[in-house]
Amino acid sequence: MHWNKSPLLLLLCTAVLTVPGTARGQETTFSPEAKQKAEALLKQMTLDEKVGQLNQSAGLVLPGLADQKPDDLIAAGGAGSILWQMNAAEINRLQHIAVEKSRLHIPILFGFDVIHGYRTVFPVPLAMASSWDPSVEEQAQHLAAEDSRAAGIQWTFTPMVDIARDARWGRIVEGAGEDPYLGSAMARAQVRGFQGDNLNPQSVLVCVKHFAGYGAADGGRDYDASYIPEELMENVYLAPFHAAEEAGAGSFMSAYMDLNDVPASGNHWLLTDVLRNDWGFQGIVLSDAFAVGSLITHGYARDGEDAAHKAVTAGLNMDMASLTYSKNLAKLVKDGKISESAVDALVLPVLEAKYDLGLFEHPYVDESKVDSILSRPEGLVLERKLAARSMVLLRNEDHALPLSKDLKKVAVIGPLADSGHDIEGGWTVEGLFGPGSKSHPVTVYAGIKNKLPSAQVTLVTGPEISRIYPGLLDMLSGRKPVPPPTAAEAAEWIAKAKAAASDADVVVAVLGEISSMSSESASRATLDLPGIQQQMLETVVATGKPVVLVLENGRPLDIRWASEHVPAILEAWYPGTEGGDAVADVLFGEVNPGGKLPLSWPRVAGAEPLYYNHNLTHEPEDRPNFTSRYWDINSKPLYPFGYGLSYTDFKFSNLHIGKNAQSAADSNEVTVDVTNTGSVAGDAVAQLYIHQRYGSASRPVRQLEGFERIALKPGETRTVKFVLGENELHFWSPQTRKWVVEPSAFDVWAGGDSTAPLHGEFTVTQ
Ligand code: BGC
Repeated sequence: MHWNKSPLLLLLCTAVLTVPGTARGQETTFSPEAKQKAEALLKQMTLDEKVGQLNQSAGLVLPGLADQKPDDLIAAGGAGSILWQMNAAEINRLQHIAVEKSRLHIPILFGFDVIHGYRTVFPVPLAMASSWDPSVEEQAQHLAAEDSRAAGIQWTFTPMVDIARDARWGRIVEGAGEDPYLGSAMARAQVRGFQGDNLNPQSVLVCVKHFAGYGAADGGRDYDASYIPEELMENVYLAPFHAAEEAGAGSFMSAYMDLNDVPASGNHWLLTDVLRNDWGFQGIVLSDAFAVGSLITHGYARDGEDAAHKAVTAGLNMDMASLTYSKNLAKLVKDGKISESAVDALVLPVLEAKYDLGLFEHPYVDESKVDSILSRPEGLVLERKLAARSMVLLRNEDHALPLSKDLKKVAVIGPLADSGHDIEGGWTVEGLFGPGSKSHPVTVYAGIKNKLPSAQVTLVTGPEISRIYPGLLDMLSGRKPVPPPTAAEAAEWIAKAKAAASDADVVVAVLGEISSMSSESASRATLDLPGIQQQMLETVVATGKPVVLVLENGRPLDIRWASEHVPAILEAWYPGTEGGDAVADVLFGEVNPGGKLPLSWPRVAGAEPLYYNHNLTHEPEDRPNFTSRYWDINSKPLYPFGYGLSYTDFKFSNLHIGKNAQSAADSNEVTVDVTNTGSVAGDAVAQLYIHQRYGSASRPVRQLEGFERIALKPGETRTVKFVLGENELHFWSPQTRKWVVEPSAFDVWAGGDSTAPLHGEFTVTQ
């Protein structure tokens, strides 16, 4: 590491490559044919019909939310889109009204949160990002797209690409973690998975959310304000959004919170200056649910009319659920406060999307096929494979794992061990909003029994994890508050756990959080294992039996004790419908884990926000005094970003940098050899990090600029190649307020995580 404070800094402002505008090459988000048809249709529409297309109507599933009978609204052309409706028969019924009874027969676009699968529920997004394999996301989302279309959903409110540097924020589970480079790769993969190369009658329109900066909520409290300087927005928070836009994403969702005091859903800088003017986006911006109405709650808009005016002029096309556009937009036009051509510009992409999605030709769902498509066995096979691919082995002392299949007695302990509800994570379309999930999740307990059909597998769940406040997802899925156990109940469970462990050859403790503890409106002030789980863990470890900890959770937890006392720890996140079988595949060595952490694992909540790509400080942390560190805990992560073990070992060697010096406009090829030095096949993730030593701004100590997950047989070596060009070297400079590649010295590291020691360097000349 070089702590270079070179005076060359002064030269930099004159010697930089300014990177030209990064707007996408593609002319339109939707096809030229769709545009032509949409323009022709628009000419026939009345103002009210136009406003109707900008209303995404809710209340068709959740009783009491709508204030107009849906059928009448639709017949009048008042609902361009509907969300929270996932009953195929009802979707068809409503679509028939739109197509047959509305004046211009414009079909409805049905939207829903198909976040990580429909009936076949894939691992939560944070887990899929842990695969460090974008094809995991692409395959899962492609299957989810097929399922969604079969069920009548053409618009999904995913991917969530919010960068999250603070595990207290519950929605960390819905994204790809803390890194803009990894997050961008996962964002692109999800767009490809849902939309394919272009939006078409088989694909699903994505909605990239929550635009933007939502993950930086003050104190990790969901919905709270974000204060993010422009350079941090450009270099970190906006990066995955831009990647998704460049991949062709057809819609964006504006976030709930204030960004630098201006609510995102009425933020002209975000929705127009950045998204449309800088990036050239021509698709749909949808508000988050009720967010246009809540511009009033924020203390930003005077009333509904002002809220609609502010949202429209900021560049927001469609109002999700608040009916603020429906109630105020026509009047604003009639009063001359908004021009009708401004409304036209908002309606056009909505119609274009409907044409490209084939809704005018095929508006209805084949109800007879829905069930069989949603229950396709190939979905489950894929789910099991991707789930195992997403798990991260955090600790494996003395090869505690894999377990032998000859085990005779296994004790499976913990409140999540047999919870089908939790193993699928939060966004389960049918479980959450529907009449009840028809999927049959495999729990870890079931997965272990499947793997060891003749062993004695004893289950001790412990008390259900208490929830004093029902979370948002608890409310939607009908879960009731659960009080903590009494002291006597707790003691009884501890005794049962102890007895089961004492009688077993191996203990598998399945601990973590119930799924609703991390998601929307589910922030936590501590990262403790909730309830009596820590006590249960300490009890079973004290028996002296070998213990494996399997974590089911949506955020990193405080596992400092376990990281010293439990020989094996497997992070399974919420692995989905086949999750229990996938966990067993990994525990018993049929799958060698290869996932890596998409975040820096904090020791305690007080260390958050904690991220690897921070800047150097006045006194970097390995200096003896005055350092940026805590008195009371080690200030480094418990496990670093990019970390994850395998049942084999890998060696990284021969870091080769093509050119010692390159010009700013040039690119450099970097290679590194990766060898499997162990005795079983396994996957390594080769990771490349860089650091710009000086320039017009401080740059992160390390930043990921390349990765590749590769499979290696024992003894096999592969050379992995990375290219460092403009995209990897540029950054948005707060001094020049431009994207620049600056002349500077650069460090390069390659290896298996963000602390990789293998180092090289090169310079960028003018
Ligand atoms: C969430 C969004 C979601 C929307 C529709 C909101 O509460 O913030 O992420 O897409 O609801 O369900």
